[in-house]
Amino acid sequence: MKFLSSLMVAITAVAGAMAQDTNATAFANGLLSALRANNLTALADAVGNNSEALLPALLTPGNKTVLAPSNAALQALGEVPTDALIATITYHVLNSTVDVAQINSGAKVIAASLLSNESYVDLGTGRSQVLVFSKFSGNNTAYVQQAGRNVSFALAANGPNYESIRVQPIENVLSIPGNTSTVAGQLGASQLATLLQNAQLVSALDSSTVTVFAPTNQAIAAVSSTIGAASAQDQTNVLLNHVVNGTTVYSTQLAGDNAVKSATSASGNELTFTANSTGAYVTSGSVTARIIQSDYAASNGVIHVIDAVLLNTTSNPQAAGSAYSSAASAAASPTGSTVPGVSGGTGGSTGSGSGSGGENGGMALKAGGATAVLSLLASAFWLIA
Ligand SMILES: *[C@@H]1O[C@H](CO)[C@@H](O)[C@H](O)[C@H]1NC(C)=O
Ligand SMILES: *[C@@H]1O[C@H](CO)[C@@H](O)[C@H](O)[C@H]1NC(C)=O
Ligand SMILES: *[C@@H]1O[C@H](CO)[C@@H](O)[C@H](O)[C@H]1NC(C)=O
Ligand SMILES: *[C@@H]1O[C@H](CO)[C@@H](O)[C@H](O)[C@H]1NC(C)=O
Ligand SMILES: *[C@@H]1O[C@H](CO)[C@@H](O)[C@H](O)[C@H]1NC(C)=O
Ligand SMILES: *[C@@H]1O[C@H](CO)[C@@H](O)[C@H](O)[C@H]1NC(C)=O
Ligand SMILES: *[C@@H]1O[C@H](CO)[C@@H](O)[C@H](O)[C@H]1NC(C)=O
Ligand SMILES: *[C@@H]1O[C@H](CO)[C@@H](O)[C@H](O)[C@H]1NC(C)=O
Ligand SMILES: *[C@@H]1O[C@H](CO)[C@@H](O)[C@H](O)[C@H]1NC(C)=O
Ligand SMILES: *[C@@H]1O[C@H](CO)[C@@H](O)[C@H](O)[C@H]1NC(C)=O
Ligand SMILES: *[C@@H]1O[C@H](CO)[C@@H](O)[C@H](O)[C@H]1NC(C)=O
Ligand SMILES: *[C@@H]1O[C@H](CO)[C@@H](O)[C@H](O)[C@H]1NC(C)=O
Repeated sequence: MKFLSSLMVAITAVAGAMAQDTNATAFANGLLSALRANNLTALADAVGNNSEALLPALLTPGNKTVLAPSNAALQALGEVPTDALIATITYHVLNSTVDVAQINSGAKVIAASLLSNESYVDLGTGRSQVLVFSKFSGNNTAYVQQAGRNVSFALAANGPNYESIRVQPIENVLSIPGNTSTVAGQLGASQLATLLQNAQLVSALDSSTVTVFAPTNQAIAAVSSTIGAASAQDQTNVLLNHVVNGTTVYSTQLAGDNAVKSATSASGNELTFTANSTGAYVTSGSVTARIIQSDYAASNGVIHVIDAVLLNTTSNPQAAGSAYSSAASAAASPTGSTVPGVSGGTGGSTGSGSGSGGENGGMALKAGGATAVLSLLASAFWLIA
C-alpha cells in the first residue's frame, strides 16, 4: 500500500486537471463498491477489468452519469471483444448529471457521452456521441431512444450517487449508433434508402457529418410519380435538399429563444425551421414538413423523420459549399465552446490528451502528461484488480 500511496502522489502531481484531489485508487474502489452494492456486479466486473481504459475518462472534470445495465442485460451480451466492450461502456457514461425530473414526455434531452473514438464517432473533431432521452407519457418511465428500440430506466427516481458520479440503472445494453444508412435502415426508411442508392449518395452521406431529414415511406410514395419523372440530376438535388452537411441540428435547438431558424441544405437551398404547439417543422420553398420522430443519433450525425418530401430540384453548389465551410470552421472552434442543444459536450478538441480511452479535449492535460498519467493509472489499477 505504501507503493500505491506514492503512485497516487505522483498521479496527483502530474494530473493537475483531474477531479479535485481525487485519489484514483480510492475513487475506483469506491465506484466499484457502489456498483456492487446496487447489484450491478456484471458492470462492476467489466469496469474493474478494463479500468485502465475507463477510469481516466471517469476522472475528467465535471459530473458524470453512468447508465448501468442490469446483470442480466450485460450477461446476455455474451463474449464481446475487449475494444468493443470498452467503447460500449464509454457510450454509457454521460459527461453531465441527467436528472430524471429533467426528462419529459414529448421532448428530448440530448447529452454527450464520453465516446469520441473515431472508429465509432464522426461528428467533428473531438466531439463525442450523444444519448437521447425522453419519457413515456403513459407510465412516466424515462428511456433512452435508439433507432428501432427504446431502453427504459429501471428506476422511476434518480439512481444513487457516488462522488461526482450518478449511477442510473437501465434495462438493456445500449448500442453504439451506426452510420446514417444503418440508422435509416433501422428506422424502416426503405424508400429513402433505395433513392439514395440509385443516386449513389449512400457513401457520401455516410462519410460526411450530416443532419438528415428522412421522409417516411408514405411521404415518398405520395410523390413517387414526380420523382420517377425527374432527371437523375434533379433526383440527386431533391435528396441533397434533405441533408445539412457538416453539422448536427438536434430538436433541442429548434425551439426556444435561441432557436436555430434556418440552415442551408447540401443542395444549397435554405431550410427554415419553425416550432409551435403542434410540433417542429422544416420548410423548403413551398413545402413544409413536420418532424414526426426526432433525434436518431448516427455515428456521423443525426436523423429526423419527416412527413413530406422537400421537393425542390434547385441546386446551388456555391451556397452548399460555403455553408459546409462555415459549419466546418465552427466545429473546429476552440475547446470550451459547447455543442448547441447538447448537455455536457464541448465544441471540439485541441488535440492534447488524445489517444486515451475515449475521452476528448475535456481532459485538458498536456500531451505527454496524459501518457504518463495513463501508465500510472494502469499500474495502480492493475494492483487493485
Ligand atoms: C488513496 O486511497 C488508498 C485506498 O483507500 C489509500 O490506501 C491511500 O493512502 C490513499 N492515498 C492518498 C495519497 O491519499
Ligand atoms: C474481473 O472479472 C471477474 C469476473 O469475470 C471478476 O471476478 C473480478 O472481480 C473482476 N475484477 C475486477 C477488478 O472487478
Ligand atoms: C454535480 O453533482 C452535484 C451532486 O449531485 C450537484 O449538486 C451539482 O449540481 C452537479 N453539478 C452540475 C453542473 O450538474
Ligand atoms: C441481482 O442480480 C442477480 C442476477 O445477476 C439477480 O438474480 C438478483 O435477483 C439481483 N438481486 C437484487 C436484489 O436485485
Ligand atoms: C412504460 O411504457 C412503455 C411504452 O408503453 C413500455 O414499453 C414500458 O415497458 C413501460 N414501463 C413500465 C415500467 O411500465
Ligand atoms: C419509443 O417510444 C416512443 C414514445 O412512446 C414511441 O413513439 C416509439 O415508437 C418507440 N420506439 C420503438 C422502437 O418502440
Ligand atoms: C456504414 O455502415 C455499414 C454497416 O456497418 C457499412 O457496411 C458501411 O461501409 C458504412 N459506410 C461507410 C461509408 O463507412
Ligand atoms: C459535404 O461537403 C464536403 C465538402 O464539400 C463534400 O466532400 C461532401 O461530399 C459533402 N457531403 C454531402 C452529403 O453532401
Ligand atoms: C404550426 O405550424 C405549422 C407549420 O407552419 C402549421 O401548419 C400549423 O397550423 C401550426 N399550428 C399552430 C397550432 O399554430
Ligand atoms: C426551391 O428553393 C429555392 C431557394 O433555394 C426557392 O427559391 C424556390 O422557391 C424553391 N422551389 C420550390 C418548388 O419550393
Ligand atoms: C478506438 O476503437 C478501436 C476499435 O475498437 C480501438 O482499436 C482503439 O484502441 C480505440 N482507440 C482508443 C484511443 O481508445
Ligand atoms: C465534460 O464537461 C466539462 C464541463 O462540465 C468539459 O469541461 C469537458 O470538456 C467535457 N468533457 C468531454 C469529454 O466532453
